[in-house]
Amino acid sequence: MDVTYQHSSMKQDRRKAIRNIVAGITVPMLGNFDARAVPPLNNRDQERGSFSVDGTSVRFHHPAMRSPQSFLMLADTHLFRDDARGIPFREYSGRMAKAYNKTKHFQSNTDTDPEQCFTASLSRITEKKQTLLALVGDILSFPSEAAVEWVMQRIEGTGLPCVYTAGNHDWHYEGMEGRAEDLRRLWSAQRLKPLYQGNHPLCHCQPMGDADLLVIDNSTYEILPEQLAFFRERERHGRPMILLLHIPLFVPGRSLGFGCGHPKWNAANDRSWQLERRQPWRSEGHTQTTLDFHRAVFQSPHVIGILAGHIHSPSVDVVNGIPQIVSEANARGGFLDVELLPMA
Ligand SMILES: [Fe+2]
Repeated sequence: MDVTYQHSSMKQDRRKAIRNIVAGITVPMLGNFDARAVPPLNNRDQERGSFSVDGTSVRFHHPAMRSPQSFLMLADTHLFRDDARGIPFREYSGRMAKAYNKTKHFQSNTDTDPEQCFTASLSRITEKKQTLLALVGDILSFPSEAAVEWVMQRIEGTGLPCVYTAGNHDWHYEGMEGRAEDLRRLWSAQRLKPLYQGNHPLCHCQPMGDADLLVIDNSTYEILPEQLAFFRERERHGRPMILLLHIPLFVPGRSLGFGCGHPKWNAANDRSWQLERRQPWRSEGHTQTTLDFHRAVFQSPHVIGILAGHIHSPSVDVVNGIPQIVSEANARGGFLDVELLPMA
């Protein structure tokens, strides 16, 4: 997939381009978008920078960036390793323990599996001189102690800092009673804690040069008031921000998988709650806080991009000049090499 696009829209051509993208291109598997057709930048455009996507390579250029930065982003590995400590939980882990045992690599279509894909992805770090590993949810298929230990050994082997946010499966034992928010808090503390490496499990800011990565847990599909407050507080710093979210934000025309802020996200439209043996989504739909977060992100002059997982299929959408890029599942070998670069 290839797309290059310059932010903002003072010129009519670009307004039209953005309308087209929001309405329909939303660049699924990304046809070519020719940046040479875009008129020259003016000063206001320069403040917003640009982005490009070439297959698994994502580049953000921004005038505030003085030195290049790069990191590896992985989502949806769905590790399922387990041992005797998991036996008492088998009634809750059985289905997901089998869900991704064997996968097909997204590029070669050859047989592979999540552990092989995760290990192969980490080998990119040296080659690409990346300085951070970002794990953006569903790294596990259920909160297995053996899987957490396995992944922690690999993370430590990189010698790099790692940021992590949970996905909806990392903390979910199917059939276990309780509200999603409570179960997330329980298993984040009891099983996932090493993965956070001391960072706050709900929201964390990771500086990368002159930009900030905001890691926000929306794995219940909802945003909590303290997470919205965190976003607004970070916004006041005025630094370029990239959001790392497991569940992508709603974009017009997209499925309920883009479920954070989706107007049709509610109990009546929840098709998976019986299969996943969890409480249905909220009957009234999203909380006002989640809707306010969605609006605040896409209205922010400081958000230069959103990186997400959950869908297991790569895509790019642009809303108000802000790109949201979804990664292929790492269970099938997917990854994103992300670079933050000066304009020139
Ligand atoms: Fe997933």
